[in-house]
Amino acid sequence: MTKIGKFITFEGPEGSGKSTQAAKLAERLKADGFEVIVTREPGGTAVGEAIRNILQHDSAGEGMPASTEILLFEASRAALMETVIKPALDKGTWVICDRFSDSTTVYQGYGRGYDIDTLLSLNETATQGAEPDLTILLDLEVDESFKRLEKRNSEAGTELDRMEREDRSFHERVRGGYLEIAAKFHGRCYIIDGSLDSDVVEEAVWSVVNDRFNGGMNED
Ligand code: TMP
Repeated sequence: MTKIGKFITFEGPEGSGKSTQAAKLAERLKADGFEVIVTREPGGTAVGEAIRNILQHDSAGEGMPASTEILLFEASRAALMETVIKPALDKGTWVICDRFSDSTTVYQGYGRGYDIDTLLSLNETATQGAEPDLTILLDLEVDESFKRLEKRNSEAGTELDRMEREDRSFHERVRGGYLEIAAKFHGRCYIIDGSLDSDVVEEAVWSVVNDRFNGGMNED
């Protein structure tokens, strides 16, 4: 029996619990004997993490044109795909990624108004056409998203990053975009209410993963 690596992405608005749930899912899969890596976008490689800093915090990134922003996200994605995701999947390791191409479609497309077909084509170039086997969308209303960001930043003594500082209507478009994408790609995407208790979300994620891979996660 060959263990085939699966590619799972977590998507959702700010503060929806993606990183927490990605880590929890990885622990459960590992406990079941699977090889698993967790990575993130932007980031996940040395160059990707440097790009992340420009996109989020470095003053060099302030006021950059939308096209530059898009290509930086895609540049980070291309490195992650080439050097981390593809090699891992090829050797049967499961890959869990905190954000992926849908984030570009939603933030730069629905949020910033950039042409969606152009974004899909850039996504395809960066990913070499690879698509997740499963995308879990943790949905969250914008009010709750803002509340969580405020709490997180005040506890950690950090400040809102460049995207988090966008206005309410931007974040409304992002949330709506995610729901549209999930409906359009319903074979790949599954929506879970991210406002629920973290343990409840964890169980829901586990159940989706088991259902999706048919309880036969060791099978070819
Ligand atoms: P996060 O990983 O902490 O959620 O931060 C990543 C930020 O970058 C978040 O605001 C969403 C944004 N983003 C995009 O706008 N486009 C993208 O393609 C990706 C991957 C993230």
